Amino acid sequence: MDYKKLISKAVDAKKLAYAPYSKFRVGAAVLTGDGNIYTGCNIENVSYGATNCAERTAVFKAVSEGHRDLRAIAIAGSNKEYTYPCGICRQVISEFAREDMEIIIVKNENEYMVKKLEEILPYAFIKKHLENREKVYD
Ligand code: THU
Repeated sequence: MDYKKLISKAVDAKKLAYAPYSKFRVGAAVLTGDGNIYTGCNIENVSYGATNCAERTAVFKAVSEGHRDLRAIAIAGSNKEYTYPCGICRQVISEFAREDMEIIIVKNENEYMVKKLEEILPYAFIKKHLENREKVYD
């Protein structure tokens, strides 16, 4: 698949990052199953733990607009290296990922890597692991 548009939206989304503490801007763009794109940036907080990553901002925007079927997400950080999604974001992406979901790790508009979610989050904890559980509360 050609991810040029998704990548350019992720790079653009960085501009809106609110990152006064880390000074590290991140942008993300998620492609839904029906072809919509939702963007997100990191939004920091003076209480550092309340910070929201760019990927989660984009995923939450898509889901809150009724799109629970995610086909791809592009992520662009602001150093010269590739910025991979953090562990919490990988888990959040996994909740709404279609089986073959692709993660596009962007260095710049010409240099990027396409990974399967499975590659960066092997042995994920998913819904089916809650099935047939022991009854603890009767
Ligand atoms: N950050 C993201 O937005 N996405 C990532 O995948 C890695 C980290 C943000 C969180 C924080 O605002 C800043 O980058 C530094 O950790």
